[in-house]
Amino acid sequence: MSATGPAPAPGAPPPVDLTVRLGRLTLPNPVMTASGTYGKGLEFRPFYDVSRLGAVVVKTITSEPRAGNPPPRLVETAGGLLNSIGLENPGIDEYVRTYLPLLRTLRAPLVINIAGHSPEDFAALAARLDPEPGIAALELNMSCPNVAHGLDYSTSPDAARHVVALVRSKTGLPLIAKLSPNVTDVRPVAKAAVEAGADAVSVINTLLGMAVDWRRRAPVLGRGVGGLSGPCIKPVALRIVKDVSRAVDAPVIGIGGIQNADDAMEFFVAGAAAIQVGTANYYLPTAAVDILDGLPSRFAVLGATRMADVVGTLKDPVLKA
Ligand code: FUM
Repeated sequence: MSATGPAPAPGAPPPVDLTVRLGRLTLPNPVMTASGTYGKGLEFRPFYDVSRLGAVVVKTITSEPRAGNPPPRLVETAGGLLNSIGLENPGIDEYVRTYLPLLRTLRAPLVINIAGHSPEDFAALAARLDPEPGIAALELNMSCPNVAHGLDYSTSPDAARHVVALVRSKTGLPLIAKLSPNVTDVRPVAKAAVEAGADAVSVINTLLGMAVDWRRRAPVLGRGVGGLSGPCIKPVALRIVKDVSRAVDAPVIGIGGIQNADDAMEFFVAGAAAIQVGTANYYLPTAAVDILDGLPSRFAVLGATRMADVVGTLKDPVLKA
């Protein structure tokens, strides 16, 4: 809101500057959507003005079209959702031809999420997208638990370094490395990704899990295992955001069970410079924009007027011997 704009309504929270810088990427606000949970963004236009979002992150694109995993692909669990989509997508050629022009009409910063079957394949995707207009950043899906070798690039610091460095050599676009929680410690992987040229890291992708139909003595999901998301993973995500944000010299994007503005504030205080809203989009289509609308009143509680007043302000516990 500009100084010359309309006076705030009586009792309204003071204006807040929600601008975020994620390395080379500047966003108008910190509320992004999470890859794979937001369709092509077009589906959400009946619910609100999608251009209000900090960024739209699209479902992962691969070099070749992928049919995805055998059904069932989704199972609801207590407080969460297990998915095993298997990176179904039309492939980069069809994507650039048909979907990218539609996505540009959203008028929100566009983050294209890509996954390669090798470092060279990641790099080829980045090179292909680099000249395309209207792309704000690339998110590297180094952490899909639902395809063969999908976790390879975020379970080894050397592998993470290699893939990010190769992608970095092919594009000047801002890069976000999306990392897996399925390791003992995410920090060495995050550090390697940042040292290799990632502008930011996003944590966490889903936790590897399974559902069992005991009567059939069989797994419920067609591929047997899947990735767990939703409110039940929020405590794990908060802990990893705190750890990674203190370990790397780059902004961290928090993902994991965020469904309202209070959840978002928890992530900011823990160290997230921005957040992605994922599973909540399925049961509350307005979740992302509701979170955005809820931030000024939460900032007012802390006397905060800009992101830097909140991000990473978590106090350490006082431990008595
Ligand atoms: O199965 C999927 O398409 C999920 C991808 C991911 O979690 O990155």
